[in-house]
Amino acid sequence: MLIKIKKSWELPESAATPEAVYLNRRQLMKGAAGAAIGGAILPWAGAASADTERAALTAPRNEAYEIDRALTPEDLNIKYNNFYEFGSQKQISDAANRELKPRPWQIEIGGMVENPITLDVDELIAKMTLEERLYRHRCVEAWSMTVPWVGFPLRKLVDMAAPLSGAKFLRMETFGDPKMASGIGSQPWYPWPYVEGLSMAEATHDLPFMVVGAYGKILANPMGAPIRLHLPWKYGFKSIKSIVKFEFVADRPKSYWETISDGREYGFWANVNPDVPHPRWSQATERVLGTGEVVRTQLFNGYAEEIGDLYAGITGENLYR
Ligand code: MTE
Repeated sequence: MLIKIKKSWELPESAATPEAVYLNRRQLMKGAAGAAIGGAILPWAGAASADTERAALTAPRNEAYEIDRALTPEDLNIKYNNFYEFGSQKQISDAANRELKPRPWQIEIGGMVENPITLDVDELIAKMTLEERLYRHRCVEAWSMTVPWVGFPLRKLVDMAAPLSGAKFLRMETFGDPKMASGIGSQPWYPWPYVEGLSMAEATHDLPFMVVGAYGKILANPMGAPIRLHLPWKYGFKSIKSIVKFEFVADRPKSYWETISDGREYGFWANVNPDVPHPRWSQATERVLGTGEVVRTQLFNGYAEEIGDLYAGITGENLYR
């Protein structure tokens, strides 16, 4: 397939637009009802915060993931995004808030598993024990932020699905409905839907986090509502947003950006390494959003200790590409 490359990750930073967070209250209430069907009452069911119109969602902090950087202000996180379904510039929040309907939201979990299931996002949330984790996020464009996410470890979803022994990878997919994201129709040269993948060893590690909230509230649309992944030791493009499908597969899936860059940029592993530059820029340092500071980038984005021997035994692969 011949893919026209319109833009790359290297995008100019432009001024942030005023925050316009909007979530449809009726949809939130429907979501809460879905959770009740799932048998549990969500801590935020029915609660709405007057200032931002996003319902509260708090969970006990997992102290194992305390970090030494200041949190990125919430409004900056909402206004400075990569979410190509709404456009290839950073200021997609208005479009995402207007167009994306995060509830009701069906999620399919299947492929090579004992327990295939299709369920509503709030039923899934009700099955999980939520926690808060402070994670550093390092974008391939050399900016970073620190976010108080609320969610559950991806490995809990893997346990629920019970993969068969032939399943070697987890493939994840974002919604591809052009009616919910104008950038899909207006950028037909991109290989929609957005797809990402992990090895089973990665998917069952404790670090991958399924995010359903941030800053003590449910996830804002520009952040990837209603459910996204965060992989703090990998470049941010691996952290797929607004997921509708989890599929356990035998073969390594080809991701959205792998398809676009066709071997010229980072590929499947994309583990952060300050000594492996992007073809067009260095990864040695990063710009901290909100503070203007430029700091040295760390191997595995500072998560080398947590990663431990996750990649032991993998030979013949460039883990930093
Ligand atoms: N997921 C989807 N579906 N679409 C995207 O464009 N962008 C990725 C990742 N997940 C992207 C996505 C990139 S490049 C980054 S850096 C992060 O989301 C950005 O997350 P943030 O906007 O919450 O900072």
